Amino acid sequence: MTQFTFDAPTVIRTKRDGGVLSDAAIDWVIDAYTHGRVADEQMSALLMAIFLRGMTAAEIARWTAAMVDSGERMDFSDLRRGGRPLALVDKHSTGGVGDKTTIPLVPVVMACGGAVPQAAGRGLGHTGGTLDKLESIAGFTAEISKHQIRQQLCDLGAAIFAAGELAPADRKIYALRDITATTESLPLIASSVMSKKIAEGANALVLDTKVGSGAFLKTEEESRELARTMVELGTAHGLTTRAVLTDMSTPLGCAIGNAVEVAESLEVLAGGGPPDVVELTVTLAAEMLDAAGLDGVDPAQTLADGSAMDRFRDLVAAQGGDLGQDLHVGPHAETITAPRDGRMESIDAMAVGLAVWRLGAGRSAPGERVQPGAGMYIHRRVGEPVSAGEPLFTLYTETPDRFEGAIAELDGGWAVGDAAPPARPLIIDRITSGD
Ligand code: URA
Repeated sequence: MTQFTFDAPTVIRTKRDGGVLSDAAIDWVIDAYTHGRVADEQMSALLMAIFLRGMTAAEIARWTAAMVDSGERMDFSDLRRGGRPLALVDKHSTGGVGDKTTIPLVPVVMACGGAVPQAAGRGLGHTGGTLDKLESIAGFTAEISKHQIRQQLCDLGAAIFAAGELAPADRKIYALRDITATTESLPLIASSVMSKKIAEGANALVLDTKVGSGAFLKTEEESRELARTMVELGTAHGLTTRAVLTDMSTPLGCAIGNAVEVAESLEVLAGGGPPDVVELTVTLAAEMLDAAGLDGVDPAQTLADGSAMDRFRDLVAAQGGDLGQDLHVGPHAETITAPRDGRMESIDAMAVGLAVWRLGAGRSAPGERVQPGAGMYIHRRVGEPVSAGEPLFTLYTETPDRFEGAIAELDGGWAVGDAAPPARPLIIDRITSGD
């Protein structure tokens, strides 16, 4: 019997012309791309066809399952602490600007008794990545062995690691999407997030699904659909999954970039920091603890009493990091000042994300080095009073020729007006299976 084989041009053409990919075609193309039998150019064309044509729910489910099957699936069900199975729970964000929440959140959940196997990502498009941020801590590494991940989960209650052999198809596709303008696609975001998270071995997952200009999907309707899709994908794979819709029309916190976001996270862990970062951290922690069946612990208390900070120090030290060394913020700085008296009327998350990317915090070519010191500090948040001439934004970079492009991105992305705009809620909604 002859075995039917696929070829990339036919698969691309099917999707380009608006067709539905069969299960077998999806399994073939993911496997062939993972093993180098489909070229980057061909996968780029297919990703663009998916971006333009979309996918059915059945195609998304199969594409996600094929990405999970492209690598190994971790299993921590044999691990015990104090004779009891670990409460394995994680969170993932769909990508935002200034979203450093993972950094304070993981130690808060550790301090509350959870165990977090966090397969974290790098920057994608205009959004930052947890790994790029944490690597601005001297010595910190996310390239840790499976043995070390297991050991840290038992001894400390968390490990933050590069996805490695988990969903290797996503690793390749993610890097390709980052440089081919194919990030903003519901099927590609849902399958990317969920393939890693299904493979990483948690029992429960909370998805921070961003809404607004700084999110990959801009409208609330699209973000709701993304959240529902991801929740159903997780549930179908036996993972207790829920989503929180949160506002990303303006950056989260005051610091955006790599080292500057770690510095702001340390403020949160020290019991201070911007109220929105604290609110999101505590809200997501409460969801994670509830999803993992842990009750009777107050996540906010772990920020107030220093126990989350202690857990963070333990975690960073276990992964080679030295918090005793200064975080290097870019040596070159430019400040933008207020043109008039008034109130900060708007700060657009997308404009800020693109400006920080231009300063060197993200990549425009595969594997490019990001600048730990690239970033921005927002001195006046939306709604706050401003006086003519006072600093509104400070931009940092290691390479001053980047200022011109960054300032151009920011231009028109903020406004000072006469009155504060109506306050927007940060937490918009929760979505659980069946919603
Ligand atoms: N996070 C991911 O892991 N993938 C995406 O596509 C977006 C956010």
